[in-house]
Amino acid sequence: MLISFEGIDGCGKSTQIGRIRDRLVAAGFGVDLVREPGGTPVSERIRELLLDDSLHVDPLSELLLFSAARAQLVRERIRPLLAKGRVVLCDRFFDSTTAYQGGGRGVADPEWLDAFHRRVTGGLAPDRTYLLVVSPRVGAARRTERAADRMEQAGEAFLERVDAAYRVLAAAEPERIMLVDGEADPGVIAERIWADLAPRLSG
Ligand code: TYD
Repeated sequence: MLISFEGIDGCGKSTQIGRIRDRLVAAGFGVDLVREPGGTPVSERIRELLLDDSLHVDPLSELLLFSAARAQLVRERIRPLLAKGRVVLCDRFFDSTTAYQGGGRGVADPEWLDAFHRRVTGGLAPDRTYLLVVSPRVGAARRTERAADRMEQAGEAFLERVDAAYRVLAAAEPERIMLVDGEADPGVIAERIWADLAPRLSG
């Protein structure tokens, strides 16, 4: 089973992924965590390129680089793990590209991206996606607590476009994407996600 976590920078994904992983492990599941971009030697090298604030990366190149990192991650790690029956938790997946490069940068429209993502992943899509929603102001404030990488320097107006694109996606795919209030107490958020996820787990 493939589960992804999405949201703007500063939405609290990492905390929730940790909590859900602990719950899954306690329930006896084999769990693996992957982050995007990254997770394989090639994808980690691409990550360095993408987050390096000394480089100018053209928006179309950015879309292709995030997707290249994902193509490698899917084939080298995610597919083999799923074949072994593991539960794979993804810290971001293709919805990030639709929201950031599609919505934030305006590189391509959602329909084109939807078809493109399927080519990149060979048709693999998350079984369930948790979208943590925080206001762009809260996200921007949380992330200033640490040094900003290249993607994080884009500013609050950019995060507003990313947030809007995420909401359009969630409205288009309500059967896959669950909206979760990311400004609630972390314990409450974890309970909500677990209540949704637990009945979907098999075996
Ligand atoms: P990261 O440090 O992993 O941030 P976070 O903890 O918020 O996930 O950096 C990933 C950055 O790359 C983040 O700003 C979102 C962005 N991103 C895209 O723009 N497109 C993508 O397809 C992905 C996967 C990430």
